[in-house]
Amino acid sequence: MYIGIDLGTSGVKLLLMSEDGKIINKVTKHYGISYPGPLMSEQDPHDWFDQTIAGIKELLNGSDAKKVRAIGAGGQMHGLVMLDNIDEVIRPAILWNDGRTIAETDYLNNKTGKDKLASWTGNIAFAGFTAPKILWVKEHEPENFKRAVKIMLPKDYLVYRLTGAFTTDYSDASGMLLLDVKNRKWSEDMLGICGVNEDMLPALHESSDIAGTVKKDIAEELGLSNDVIVCAGAGDNAAAAIGTGTVGDGRCNISLGTSGTIFISSTDYTGLKNNAIHSFAHADGGWHVMGCMLSAASCNSWWMDGILGDSDYSAAQSKITSLGTNRVFFLPYLLGERSPHNDPEVRSMFIGMSPDTTREDMTQAVLEGVAYGMRDSLEIIRAAGISVTETTICGGGAKSPLWRRIISDVMNITVKVPSNDEGPALGGAILAAVADGRYKDVIEASRTLVSYRDELTIEPDPETSARYNTGYRFFRKLYPSIKDLF
Ligand code: XUL
Repeated sequence: MYIGIDLGTSGVKLLLMSEDGKIINKVTKHYGISYPGPLMSEQDPHDWFDQTIAGIKELLNGSDAKKVRAIGAGGQMHGLVMLDNIDEVIRPAILWNDGRTIAETDYLNNKTGKDKLASWTGNIAFAGFTAPKILWVKEHEPENFKRAVKIMLPKDYLVYRLTGAFTTDYSDASGMLLLDVKNRKWSEDMLGICGVNEDMLPALHESSDIAGTVKKDIAEELGLSNDVIVCAGAGDNAAAAIGTGTVGDGRCNISLGTSGTIFISSTDYTGLKNNAIHSFAHADGGWHVMGCMLSAASCNSWWMDGILGDSDYSAAQSKITSLGTNRVFFLPYLLGERSPHNDPEVRSMFIGMSPDTTREDMTQAVLEGVAYGMRDSLEIIRAAGISVTETTICGGGAKSPLWRRIISDVMNITVKVPSNDEGPALGGAILAAVADGRYKDVIEASRTLVSYRDELTIEPDPETSARYNTGYRFFRKLYPSIKDLF
């Protein structure tokens, strides 16, 4: 059996997969997130590890733990974890959706220069990326910076605690702005700018490479045999891509989780002109381009749970019947926006209400606002000459048939639903199976193990899509009109 881990923002999801790809068990364990100051979001890496261990125990309940052969993890990207010389966590991890690094991001993009950054790393600086965070710690917490001996990403911390191996993989390392993505090696120029040397960074691997073996005491605690391997793993979006069959050339996956991403796989490196979206390595040995929204399904949970106090999402959505005619719009920028605006300070807004506006119109506007925001990235991807006509979909928001339909019509693409909705955790388990030698490579494993619920495939409806085109033209004008307010 194989264990797949998705180290997410709201919690860790674990999945136990049989060697032939059947899902035997799934467990989710939650942990908190703290917002210690304006634009800041942090988590305690110890919580990730403790909840993962507790989750693996539950996951294996009722199964023969000795049959587990390998573990693979996908994890929230970009987070900065720093350890000192006795492996103590120096400060809470600064997360992917933290926007405190405005000054450092500006410095990198405007003083170092976007052209240089793009030629060294394939990307420009975004506030959530790791390099600006390193510069922030150096400037604001010099004592912490001096103590740092190891710098790593969230899932690499898990792998380190599980095995003692200090490793990362190319897909996740791409989001640090320290990797020369095209050539799959650390960028000496960026390491120099950040004041870190290569010894402080994890060893680079392909995602399905073996990172190490579970430590003896942990194996004993979990009832595992003493030769369980852990693979290098992947960033959660690359892991989700593996778990939805988005491998090889020209396939697309949309993830509606806390963040929202549109991910297009490619066998070649794609250098993008304006760099509003990311150009990263993939976990299948290739590359991908990706747009990332900071708030996607989290917009809906904020609105439903936080504001309306209504946890029955499907009852609320069942009252929404007419698509493409809503006059209320929602800007999904609860935590600022990454792609394509690169603006940590902008915030959300409802616009267009009138005396006859209903609660349903506003609920619908939230779902549509996320789809329009995703279309902003798609437009840039299409303008770069990349054709996208079909996508898979995963993440908590993808459970909603209405939201899937809205995505299809707003973006004018066919939406396919995988049989298993645990994208990144399944991807982690698939990577583990490849590390264990069950499959020739990640592409073969993903194509063999991922299947789809064909009866749920959605084709865009031409009339609704045309109405949404009009809506999108309006939506597009909103960000430029309001950005200076913040
Ligand atoms: C991707 C990104 C998010 C996180 C979410 O660039 O920042 O999708 O990986 O966990």
